[in-house]
Amino acid sequence: MSQHSRIEILSASPAAIARAARELAEGGLVAFPTETVYGLGGDATSDLAVAAIFKAKGRPSFNPLIAHVSSLDQAAALVEIGADAHRLAERFWPGPLTLVLKRRAASPVSLLASAGLDSVAVRMPDHPTALALIKAAGRPLAAPSANLSGRVSPTRADHVAQCLDGRIAMVLDGGPCRVGVESTVLDLTEEPPTLLRPGGVTAEELEAVLGRPLRRALETPDAPRSPGQLASHYAPSLPVRLDALAAEPGEALLGFGIAPECVLNLSPKGDLDEAAAHLFAMLRALDRPDYLGIAVMPIPERGLGLAINDRLKRAAAPRSPS
Ligand code: TXA
Ligand code: MG
Repeated sequence: MSQHSRIEILSASPAAIARAARELAEGGLVAFPTETVYGLGGDATSDLAVAAIFKAKGRPSFNPLIAHVSSLDQAAALVEIGADAHRLAERFWPGPLTLVLKRRAASPVSLLASAGLDSVAVRMPDHPTALALIKAAGRPLAAPSANLSGRVSPTRADHVAQCLDGRIAMVLDGGPCRVGVESTVLDLTEEPPTLLRPGGVTAEELEAVLGRPLRRALETPDAPRSPGQLASHYAPSLPVRLDALAAEPGEALLGFGIAPECVLNLSPKGDLDEAAAHLFAMLRALDRPDYLGIAVMPIPERGLGLAINDRLKRAAAPRSPS
């Protein structure tokens, strides 16, 4: 199942979902849409399928994956759902929130998927195709973003086809992703709950439901616990320069708000939700050899702006020499 010719882009009909579910049940991989970004899915309970995900992405296998579920009951078979997790799931699932919870002793999730940790990350995506696929497959799906490790995440089926052609059999096309940045990752195995990655649900929204402040693990100098915390990530081929007010010669300016000189604008009206939805597609569109670099205008540090700035900082970080 590792030799594939051209990747098939299938419009997400019931028949296509049934075919994708069969591929997954046989240990194959399928890319599918979620509300955040496209995921590269495989059976989360199969070591072989999970190993195939790491291989297809070129991802270091010490980085754990999220198990995607279609119901709270399905999650409860994998991890221990305490009172906080219950409250958060009730409020934000299905949706862009991933909860890191204590692994159940009898959890069927592959230890390779959780990188040998005694926790498992779970999330219920808010996309009809994703939910239908998980249900049809009858098992939780491990799914990192469907791009090569370290590169820009895909928010459209053709982005997936560009980077994973020849590596997987098919991608279900569910149109452009509504949120556009990955889920928020919250670790509930420690007190206080720790924000491992800012994302589609804001820290303020989580704190309001939990009734107490989160710890923000984002700038911790110690070893990264989440690959979202690795320095260079989400990176286009061109260098990225942040907080730019104008383009230098040869640079393409990615605008936000009023920006007459920009090549593309994340949101001319200055809306952060719209900017998040456009972020990865516009970084891809500007990543062309006719430019020397991508300059990005300042993005306000509130709401989804935190997730946008987090991704941009990593896109601009010094690249590892690989
Ligand atoms: O929006 C999303 O979350 C997308 C879509 C496809 O659902 N998925 C995604 O997966 O972004 P990935 O693999 O790119 O990011 C998963 C994040 C990583 O930062 C990983 O380190 C963290 O979740 N993670 C997973 N399991 C963990 C665990 N047991 N403990 C701590 N962090 C964990
Ligand atoms: Mg990713």
